Amino acid sequence: MVAILGFTREDILVAVKDMYTAVATAPSARFHFPVGLTGCRAVGYPEQALRGLPDAAIESFAGVGYPFRAGIVRAGDTVLDIGSGSGTDALIASRLVGPMGRVYALDMTPAMVAKLRGLIATTRASNIEVIEGNAERIALPDASVDVVTSNGMLNLVPDKRRAIAEMFRVLRPGGRVQIADIVIGLPVTPDCAADPKLWAECVVGATVAEDYLAMFRDAGFADVEVLREFDYFAHSASPDTQDVARRFHARSIEITMRRGARAPAKIVQLARRMDPRRIAAALERRGLAGIVALGVAACACYGTLAALAVLSVLGITLAVNDAAVAGVVALLAALAAAVVGLGMRKHRSAGPVLPAALGAALIGFAMLVRYDWRIELAGFVLLAAAVAWDWRLRRHAHAAPSQAPQSIDRTMSSAGSSPD
Ligand SMILES: C[S@@+](CC[C@H](N)C(=O)[O-])C[C@H]1O[C@@H](n2cnc3c(N)ncnc32)[C@H](O)[C@@H]1O
Repeated sequence: MVAILGFTREDILVAVKDMYTAVATAPSARFHFPVGLTGCRAVGYPEQALRGLPDAAIESFAGVGYPFRAGIVRAGDTVLDIGSGSGTDALIASRLVGPMGRVYALDMTPAMVAKLRGLIATTRASNIEVIEGNAERIALPDASVDVVTSNGMLNLVPDKRRAIAEMFRVLRPGGRVQIADIVIGLPVTPDCAADPKLWAECVVGATVAEDYLAMFRDAGFADVEVLREFDYFAHSASPDTQDVARRFHARSIEITMRRGARAPAKIVQLARRMDPRRIAAALERRGLAGIVALGVAACACYGTLAALAVLSVLGITLAVNDAAVAGVVALLAALAAAVVGLGMRKHRSAGPVLPAALGAALIGFAMLVRYDWRIELAGFVLLAAAVAWDWRLRRHAHAAPSQAPQSIDRTMSSAGSSPD
């Protein structure tokens, strides 16, 4: 079984199903996120979009934004709503596509599926077909839909890349996507990640915004555009959920994009994920860039010495360019010190900068001017202390409850390469 952030995939699916069974069957209970008509209004549904929809659909609404802001559903389209819940969006799409169009409503929670099926039987929405299933394996043929819509679902899915690849597969080339979802600004820390309930409340399963958008581009989507971001958790009735959401800068995002002509080869996707700038940014967000730079510097220095010693015991002599190794070690030590310097922007404390600078200077002196193992060791000890100090300060800054982010309605284009 795959363990994700400390609990298994099965734990997540069970927690999510339990949560949304409750939303389907007892919508007037108290939830830690906005539900029903209040929820629709909080996330920006215009009254006119809701007019005429069955109360039973709206009462179990649990979306996190208004994906139809993208305005991409046309008469005659085939639309797939992934994570359709009680069907508010599927019913809106059913009206937009008209009698010549078709809507597939897919959800994995049996209670939501039963509720929507019951609703359809009592309305004239005969162009909706409900599918019980998982977003990671959609029971529809390749290139069979014009539009994918989804609201509050992807953050709940354990294997997001797989779900995105499935969206790509079922869409026709040039097909369009509209999504409302939760993203975060800072990676979730292990203490919060160990709570499946927080996953089901849409906080812990969310992805850092930049990585979220990159996952779509990696999969072959083009023209990925952010239409709106806003503080969804300001509408939560739970101070605890609000606090966790604030810690990780969780917010709603409404996005649109189109499917490129073909999915990039797996090797190209992997190369994009391995882009050193992406890796450096991910390490920096986790506060680990300094630790990694220091670790690599120490490995380059002492690891090279240890490897040479072991090889000589085995009777193997290797010619190593001492100047090159010394240059790399000095450079990495300077990099680790620079990362500590950049930490000041996050935790506003200059404390670790002096030992970091001194440590890197001592290492540089020992490597490039006059080698003395004591100076080198003192440099590494100072730098390690500075990096550890910086990391602690970053964690504290991260954990401190920040100001509630203002609701931001903004339109911005996300720069990204088009795969076409
Ligand atoms: C936050 S609710 C939103 C429901 C609906 N879109 C709405 O706006 O009311 C998320 C829905 O996604 C469904 N869901 C979560 N993970 C899923 C998965 N892996 N596959 C299919 N559905 C999933 C849940 O059962 C739930 O009904």
